[in-house]
Amino acid sequence: MASSTALISDTEAWKDLKGHVEDIKKTHLRDLMSDANRCQSMMMEFDGLLLDYSRQRATVETMDKLLNLAKAAQLTEKISRMFNGEHINSTENRSVLHVALRAPKDAVIKADGKNVVPEVWNVLDKIKEFSEKIRSGSWVGATGKPLKDVIAIGIGGSFLGPLFVHTALQTDPEALESAKGRQLRFLANIDPVDVARNINGLNPETTLVVVVSKTFTTAETMLNARTLRDWITAALGASAVAKHMVAVSTNLALVEKFGIDPNNAFAFWDWVGGRYSVCSAVGVLPLSLQYGFSVVEKFLKGASSIDQHFQSTPFEKNIPVLLGLLSVWNVSFLGYPARAILPYSQALEKFAPHIQQVSMESNGKGVSIDGLPLPFETGEIDFGEPGTNGQHSFYQLIHQGRVIPCDFIGIVKSQQPVYLKGEVVSNHDELMSNFFAQPDALAYGKTPEQLQKENVSENLIPHKTFSGNRPSLSLLLPELTAYNVGQLLAIYEHRVAVQGFVWGINSFDQWGVELGKVLATQVRKQLHSSRTQGTALEGFNYSTTTLLKRYLETSSEPQM
Ligand code: F6P
Repeated sequence: MASSTALISDTEAWKDLKGHVEDIKKTHLRDLMSDANRCQSMMMEFDGLLLDYSRQRATVETMDKLLNLAKAAQLTEKISRMFNGEHINSTENRSVLHVALRAPKDAVIKADGKNVVPEVWNVLDKIKEFSEKIRSGSWVGATGKPLKDVIAIGIGGSFLGPLFVHTALQTDPEALESAKGRQLRFLANIDPVDVARNINGLNPETTLVVVVSKTFTTAETMLNARTLRDWITAALGASAVAKHMVAVSTNLALVEKFGIDPNNAFAFWDWVGGRYSVCSAVGVLPLSLQYGFSVVEKFLKGASSIDQHFQSTPFEKNIPVLLGLLSVWNVSFLGYPARAILPYSQALEKFAPHIQQVSMESNGKGVSIDGLPLPFETGEIDFGEPGTNGQHSFYQLIHQGRVIPCDFIGIVKSQQPVYLKGEVVSNHDELMSNFFAQPDALAYGKTPEQLQKENVSENLIPHKTFSGNRPSLSLLLPELTAYNVGQLLAIYEHRVAVQGFVWGINSFDQWGVELGKVLATQVRKQLHSSRTQGTALEGFNYSTTTLLKRYLETSSEPQM
C-alpha cells in the first residue's frame, strides 16, 4: 500500500500497468471485440443503466491490474473518508459532502460530528414552499403581478450545473408541462452583452432575480447582480428589491449587506464545492421555480441512487469506479490527454460544458495532495457536442487524426418522439443508428484490403483508410427524465473523484483560478485611474502596455 506521502507512480501496481502497456499495444480492438467472454465481462447494469466498456483498449488482465491500482491508491478508504465527512479537501480544510445534498431525509451524514442531513432538508423544504408561492402567484412583485420569469445570476459552478439540468429538462414531457408560461434564464458572463440578452423581452414587474454565489464575492456575479438591481430599481423603485431579488449563498452576511432580505436567502455550506453544488439550492432553487419541486426531487433521487451504488458496490461492478479507472488508464498509461463527451441527445447539449468544469477544475493539478510535484500528468481535456452535430464537426480528427477516447451517451426512449409516415425509421431511431455505428467505426476502422475489394482507386486508399483501434465506451440510459439526469450527473462527479483519488491529488480545491483574478484587479485599478485622472500606464509588461494603450485610446467606454 502507498503511504499517504508516496506517489502512486512509485507503487508496484502503477509500474505493473506501465509494463502492461506493451501488451496492449500489440492488440487491436478488432480482435478484442471478437472475444465474447471479454465483452460480456465489460457490460455493467445498474438501476436501468447499461454501461458497455468493451471498446476500451483493455483486456480482463488490464481490469485486474487497474483494480490493483485502486487498492494501491487506497480507493476504498478514500471513498469512505469522503462519505464520512473527513476534511479530504485538505488545502481548504473542508469536508466534501455533495452526497449529503441528495441524501434521503432519514440518512445520517456527518460533517465535523454533526448530522448535516436535517439542515439540507430545512433548505429543501424552504425552497419547496418558496417556489410554490412564486409558481402559484401567491407571492407577487412590487406592482402586484405574479413573477413568471426568473434570471439566475451566477458563474462557474453556480451556473453550469443548473444550466445543464435545465436544458436537459426543457423537453421532458413532465417538466415541460409544469414549466408552462414560465421562463428561466442564466446570466453568467460579465460581458454586458449577456445582460442585454437576459433582459431582452423581460419586464422587471414580472421577473425574479436569483443571485447565486457560494462566496458572494465573485466579481462577475456581483457586478451582474448590481446591474440587475439597477434594472429593477430604475423601473420599480428601491423597495422592489425585497420582492424581486433572492439569493443562494454560503455567505449570508454579504447577502444581507447587498440588500437582499435574509429571509429570502437560501443557504448552503462550505462542504459543497462550487462545481459540485447543483444539488444544493444553487440548482434546486432556480430549477424548482421553473419546474416545481417535485420534478427536482426526482433529479435528487437519481443522483442519490448512484451515490449509494458508488458507496457500496464492489469495484468490479461499480460504474463510477470503473469509469474513473479507465480514464486513468487512458490518460496516464496510454497517453491520451483528451476525452470527448458525446451525448446522442440534444437535451444534453450543456452536459459537456458542465463536465468540463467538474473534471478540469477538479483534476487539472500539478502536485499531489501532499504538495509533491507529480511526475505524470493529471486531468484530461474534456470537450463535446451532442451527436450527430459533432459528427459533422470534429469527428474527422477523432476517426483519422488524434486518438481521443469517446464517451457515447444514448437514450432508449426519446423525450420528444417523431414518426413520419413513409420514413424508414423514426427520427429517434435515425439518431440512435449513429450512436450504435460510431463506436464500431472507431474500433474497427477500415483496412486498405477492404478498400481494394471495393475497387477504390489506389491513390485514394491511404486517404480512405481508417486505422481503427480507437477506444470508446457507451452508456445507455432508459430515458431522460429528471431521475436519469441526476444519475448521469452523479456518475460523472464520482468518476472524476475516483480519478483524483487514484492520482493522489486534491480534486476539490481550485487554486489555479486565483492568479488571473489578482491580475485583473490590477488592470481594473489602472483602467479606473487612466479613465478618471488620465494616469499613465504603469507596472505592465511591453505587451500588455501596448494592448491597454490601444484599448484606452480607441474605446468609447463612458468616463466613470
Ligand atoms: O472559477 C472559480 C470559482 O471559484 C469556481 O470554483 C466557482 O464555481 C465559481 O468561481 C463561482 O464562485 P461563486 O459561487 O463563489 O460565485
